[in-house]
Amino acid sequence: MTQLPGLLDTEAIRKDFPLLDRQVHDGKKVVYLDNAATSQKPRQVLDALNAYYERHNANVHRGVHVLAEEATALYEGARDKVAAFINAPSRDEVIFTKNASESLNLVANMLGWADEPYRVDRETEIVITEMEHHSNIVPWQLLSQRTGAKLKWFGITDDGRLDLSNIEEVITEQTKIVSFTLVSNIMGTVNPVETIIRRAQEVGALVCIDASQAAPHMVLDVQALQADFVAFTGHKMCGPTGIGVLWGRQELLEDLPPFLGGGEMIETVSMHSSTYAPAPHKFEAGTPPIAQAVGLGAAVDYLTSIGMDNIAVHEHAITEYAVKRLLEVPDLRIIGPSTAEDRGATISFTLGDIHPHDVGQVLDEQGIAVRVGHHCARPVCLRYGIPATTRASFYLYSTPAEVDALVEGLEHVRNFFG
Ligand code: ALA
Repeated sequence: MTQLPGLLDTEAIRKDFPLLDRQVHDGKKVVYLDNAATSQKPRQVLDALNAYYERHNANVHRGVHVLAEEATALYEGARDKVAAFINAPSRDEVIFTKNASESLNLVANMLGWADEPYRVDRETEIVITEMEHHSNIVPWQLLSQRTGAKLKWFGITDDGRLDLSNIEEVITEQTKIVSFTLVSNIMGTVNPVETIIRRAQEVGALVCIDASQAAPHMVLDVQALQADFVAFTGHKMCGPTGIGVLWGRQELLEDLPPFLGGGEMIETVSMHSSTYAPAPHKFEAGTPPIAQAVGLGAAVDYLTSIGMDNIAVHEHAITEYAVKRLLEVPDLRIIGPSTAEDRGATISFTLGDIHPHDVGQVLDEQGIAVRVGHHCARPVCLRYGIPATTRASFYLYSTPAEVDALVEGLEHVRNFFG
């Protein structure tokens, strides 16, 4: 068995993930390499979800009965865990949403309804990148269509990095918000946050970071990042679906208007007007995803017990090995950085002229789960003149043997298509 320095004890870790024992297609053990789409869930998270529903289920913040108090304590306890996980200065800066898309839409809409000094209008420039997931493109397109603001973006270099050579022309005195991904969901590129934030701060623009592909894989310290908003989702980091996070700087959350109105986000309501609860409740209208937040809290405990630094080292070793092995496959072209430096454990590639959907199907027949398509990052495919990629993405339970299985699977694909 291939041994690499820095690997986690995957034999022990994999015992926590029941799904990794699944067999598909007549007894083939599943090789799950679609972690950028969603991660598998450890027993600890599944148990927390069950325990919540079996013993504590009630609505939060509303009841005086013991179950409501327990549910509220669990929900708010999850907020404390997330706040500690991202080193937030205050738990009140952690807003629970449905997913990262909702978090990013929330930022765009807070700004869309804001007055000066945050007001977005025809004079405003909004900056994103060509590397974004659609969830960090479309909300800004909607905002610029509504307000007349100009949407600008950084391009991508041939080797899958952001092209910041024109940073002073892209981020200008007119820029009010710069929103970009920390790690590309399609190419795995880790972006140079500091350079972008430094320029944004020079012109007084707000910075929003999509950390969906970072939070599961590395230490995420919102104070060190120095951004104004950070969005991520629970289901890619061992948590359940239906729970996302928006972290925002306290004074911004105090100043900016709510987006969704409803129960729990108010201070008082009359038939003429309403006043709002302080953040985070101001941004959490209606019954929140309670069980999902509890599950995310358990996921945070799980990841913390293993150590985000250790997870990052493990994934780096797997990525280095995977890049090396994949480049040995004839006709394989990595879309994105083709070294393991400054990249995460998500690798997109094409294989000669074979359509990625065919690659994915033949791999699936061997029990290997990858994602194919444009990965909700279609501008990246357009940039490279390809319709789609095959994407393999690894996590804390991935092993070198699974990389080998992928490479063997690709040999099989090549033979199959002659
Ligand atoms: N955003 C997820 C992905 O990249 C769904 O696959």
